[in-house]
Amino acid sequence: MVPSRFSVLSILVVLVLTPSRMGSHPIQDQDRFLQCLSRNSESSIPFSTVLYSPINSSFTAILRSSAQNLRFTLPSLPKPEFIFTPLEESHIQAAVICSKQLGIHLRVRSGGHDYEGLSYVSETDTPFVVVDIAELHSISVDIDNNSAWVQAGATNGELYYRIAEQSTTHGYPAGTCTSLGIGGHITGGAYGSMMRKYGLAVDNVIDARIINVHGRVLDRQTMGEDLYWAIRGGGGGSFGIITAWKVKLVPVPSTVTIFTVTKSLEQGATKLLFRWQQVADKLDEDLFIRVNIQTVNVSNKGGRTITTSYDALFLGDANRLLQVMRESFPELGLARQDCIETSWINSTVYLGGYTINTSPEVLLQRRNILKHYFKAKSDFVRQPIPETALKGLWEIMLEEDNPAIVLTPYGGNMGKISESQTPFPHRKGTLFMIQYLANWQDAKENVRKHTDWTRMVYRYMKPYVSMFPRQAYVNYRDLDLGINKETNTSFPEASVWGTKYFKDNFYRLVRVKTKVDPDNFFRHEQSIPTLPHHMRKRN
Ligand SMILES: Cc1cc2nc3c(=O)[nH]c(=O)nc-3n(C[C@H](O)[C@H](O)[C@H](O)COP(=O)(O)OP(=O)(O)OC[C@H]3O[C@@H](n4cnc5c(N)ncnc54)[C@H](O)[C@@H]3O)c2cc1C
Ligand SMILES: *[C@@H]1O[C@H](CO)[C@@H](O)[C@H](O)[C@H]1NC(C)=O
Ligand SMILES: *[C@@H]1O[C@H](CO)[C@@H](O)[C@H](O)[C@H]1NC(C)=O
Ligand SMILES: *[C@@H]1O[C@H](CO)[C@@H](O)[C@H](O)[C@H]1NC(C)=O
Ligand SMILES: *[C@@H]1O[C@H](CO)[C@@H](O)[C@H](O)[C@H]1NC(C)=O
Ligand SMILES: *[C@@H]1O[C@H](CO)[C@@H](O)[C@H](O)[C@H]1NC(C)=O
Repeated sequence: MVPSRFSVLSILVVLVLTPSRMGSHPIQDQDRFLQCLSRNSESSIPFSTVLYSPINSSFTAILRSSAQNLRFTLPSLPKPEFIFTPLEESHIQAAVICSKQLGIHLRVRSGGHDYEGLSYVSETDTPFVVVDIAELHSISVDIDNNSAWVQAGATNGELYYRIAEQSTTHGYPAGTCTSLGIGGHITGGAYGSMMRKYGLAVDNVIDARIINVHGRVLDRQTMGEDLYWAIRGGGGGSFGIITAWKVKLVPVPSTVTIFTVTKSLEQGATKLLFRWQQVADKLDEDLFIRVNIQTVNVSNKGGRTITTSYDALFLGDANRLLQVMRESFPELGLARQDCIETSWINSTVYLGGYTINTSPEVLLQRRNILKHYFKAKSDFVRQPIPETALKGLWEIMLEEDNPAIVLTPYGGNMGKISESQTPFPHRKGTLFMIQYLANWQDAKENVRKHTDWTRMVYRYMKPYVSMFPRQAYVNYRDLDLGINKETNTSFPEASVWGTKYFKDNFYRLVRVKTKVDPDNFFRHEQSIPTLPHHMRKRN
């Protein structure tokens, strides 16, 4: 039964509670939030049509709509008191003002791909609400000016599609998976198959709109260079709510070439991978070859092996690609019939995991092909991993049901951008990034078994990867590295995980955070902390 909002009990609760703290009574919180929204917005839309609480039958569907890691959709996890789905930028402004006024903890979600579900689950601060900005996904492409304004709720796939609609020779260097929310994705750096040529998405941003803790909309000019620096790689959910990015388009040839060549252990995968490690970061900048490593069944009696798939994008035609490969990586044995010449937009569909015949309209669906339960971790490598160590890695992989390891090559333009240009510090000297993933499909599986496997493989890899600090990618968020335990986040304790993601840029991020959000309104388990009061400069 739903309690009446005018019951005597509710009135008593109002009288007893301090007016600024929410959470005692969800229905009432929701009413107060609704009233506050109306007071703070001139919008003609009735807010009750964009606010979902557990009494609304669509609440669960909305909550799960973009949640990419099924691990964080389990019933046992904390759920928001309500979900607000703004239709205009001004609605987000009102949401910030009202959450602050009512003392409610707010999480913001764009594409829902956070690895630890932080955009829709709060374990440290409850109760909480989710502001889901997926509806704000308009894109305006200005081909003549090589630029586009993209609202934060758009996916990177939609952006690719809208660019290709207007030109076959323009592109944008963001993620390979095509259902990522531009809002959360770009704030963490954002890499994809053109990173060796053009760097990250953040290296190709020219302006942004952000709503600050006071509910004001700022652009590059009004936010100032410090905040503009921080949001280009400092990770989502710490500085404000990005409502749109202005991005710089990059030239792509009208014909690109893609290929996937797979080698199993029996076909010499270990030696070949050792060779790839020596060349992947030194190849022509037009060439990106990543390696997807998986286990496969070879018999129905439980026999398994490892396969390594070399998945590539070349910004040029097949003839030139074959020549580049002959000169720099002949060991792969790439043949003409392995090469598929196509358009850049079709290559994004293919590298996004769809088959080559899939129509690019799939990018407008805004959803990933498959959702898993997963746990992942990341590493950066500065020296080739010896063959003997790779053999040990295969043994560990065969202990997990459905593991994946992905190696992403660096070098090229990535090595030319300085470590402090943006908060993303993994630049010169990085050969490649590793991602370790445990995937599973059944809610009844023992989560601990899989998360423990990722921890084991991570321990095993320690001698072979970057150290002091052991670096990690903030967009592959990993709460094992450390969490903020309280509302007032802990500094300097947080520098343990902070320097893994950002190296020394972490300290500048903390200073910017302290300046723009001194009371730590925008926070989550791994948001950038503020400086404690005794460490702040007095004006
Ligand atoms: C299947 C899969 C494939 C991926 N592939 C790639 C890849 O190819 N390249 C790559 O670089 N990364 C990749 N990622 C990682 C991805 O970049 C991050 O998960 C990214 O944070 C997702 O953004 P989102 O908006 O979808 O996520 P969300 O879960 O909505 O948000 C992520 C974080 O940002 C915050 N946030 C969300 N929106 C905003 C906003 N508007 N303003 C401020 N903060 C916000 C959230 O609160 C949360 O903390 C992949 C992830 C998955 C699950
Ligand atoms: C949720 O339910 C309430 C109460 O029935 C209703 O007023 C509101 O419009 C519903 N919200 C949505 C988004 O449908
Ligand atoms: C093109 O973009 C630049 C940089 O953002 C801007 O200064 C200029 O006004 C734009 N020109 C047009 C014609 O829009
Ligand atoms: C591989 O075999 C195992 C059992 O040995 C089975 O559970 C699993 O589903 C198989 N995987 C594939 C991809 O066929
Ligand atoms: C891109 O893919 C679509 C759908 O398969 C196909 O019709 C089209 O011809 C492809 N374009 C190129 C240049 O290969
Ligand atoms: C937490 O931060 C608030 C706001 O900055 C401050 O008033 C309060 O004293 C802090 N609490 C603790 C325990 O440090």
